[in-house]
Amino acid sequence: MVTPRAEGVTLHLGGVRHGYRLEGVYREVVADLNLRVEPGEFVVLLGPSGCGKSTLLRLIAGLESPNDGWIEVDGTPITRPGPDRILMFQDPTLYPWRTVRQNIALSQDISGKRDDAAVDAAVRLVGLEGFQKAWPHQLSGGMAQRVAFARALVNKPQMLLLDEPLGKLDALTRLTMQTELHRLWKERSFTAIMVTHDVDEALLLGTRIVTLGGQGSSAILSDLVLSAPFPRDRNAPEMIVLREKILSQLLYSQAA
Ligand SMILES: Nc1ncnc2c1ncn2[C@@H]1O[C@H](COP(=O)(O)OP(=O)(O)OP(=O)(O)O)[C@@H](O)[C@H]1O
Ligand SMILES: [Mg+2]
Repeated sequence: MVTPRAEGVTLHLGGVRHGYRLEGVYREVVADLNLRVEPGEFVVLLGPSGCGKSTLLRLIAGLESPNDGWIEVDGTPITRPGPDRILMFQDPTLYPWRTVRQNIALSQDISGKRDDAAVDAAVRLVGLEGFQKAWPHQLSGGMAQRVAFARALVNKPQMLLLDEPLGKLDALTRLTMQTELHRLWKERSFTAIMVTHDVDEALLLGTRIVTLGGQGSSAILSDLVLSAPFPRDRNAPEMIVLREKILSQLLYSQAA
């Protein structure tokens, strides 16, 4: 059993409904979603394309408000984005006119609160010593994503919301960055909620896998706690059984 660690925050969603009006027609995306995430958990969200995974992350980030229901962090309703919850995407979105160090320090420069010791620590955390003065165009895809991780973690957020963060990397770099992401989560003790389409990635990193899907609007189809210790062996019999179980669940949800 992987016990959630004491750090991070508790996230609680109750009766969340959300949808969009497009060309005059309202379509519900998520319906009656209930989820509780304990401090330090690494929750992976899986589900077919369009089922509302990114929508859910945007709601938790506070970029959108649910049409119904509530979302709380440590008992406080989320009403707007906050420095405690950082959203990261596939694309590292680095500013090409800022160096690696300046990109990592971006939020601090915007708020006028530069903390050079925290920037140094973030650079070391992702192993980019010696590249601080490099420009984004001089970086490989993996290095650029390391900068994005450092920028996300520089102010020690309690929650990292990851929307397919490794989705654009080549297969080999992706494997390395999976190990890196696990290490960052262990070292910085944030609560992680990550969307991926890669079931192996979910099995390697998650303490819990939540599958979304369903007919019409989405709901939680399964919620699986992963008890295998880290580092995980993708070929362990337990992992093979879980992979099959999750894949068939996903295929079922796609057909629904
Ligand atoms: N701003 C918006 N306006 C209208 N419809 C939207 C908006 N954002 C998302 N949608 C719709 O909501 C649904 C869910 O979108 P979302 O991006 O959350 O899916 P997803 O599960 O992240 O998909 P994928 O795996 O392809 O990234 C889609 O049908 C999408 O068209
Ligand atoms: Mg998405």
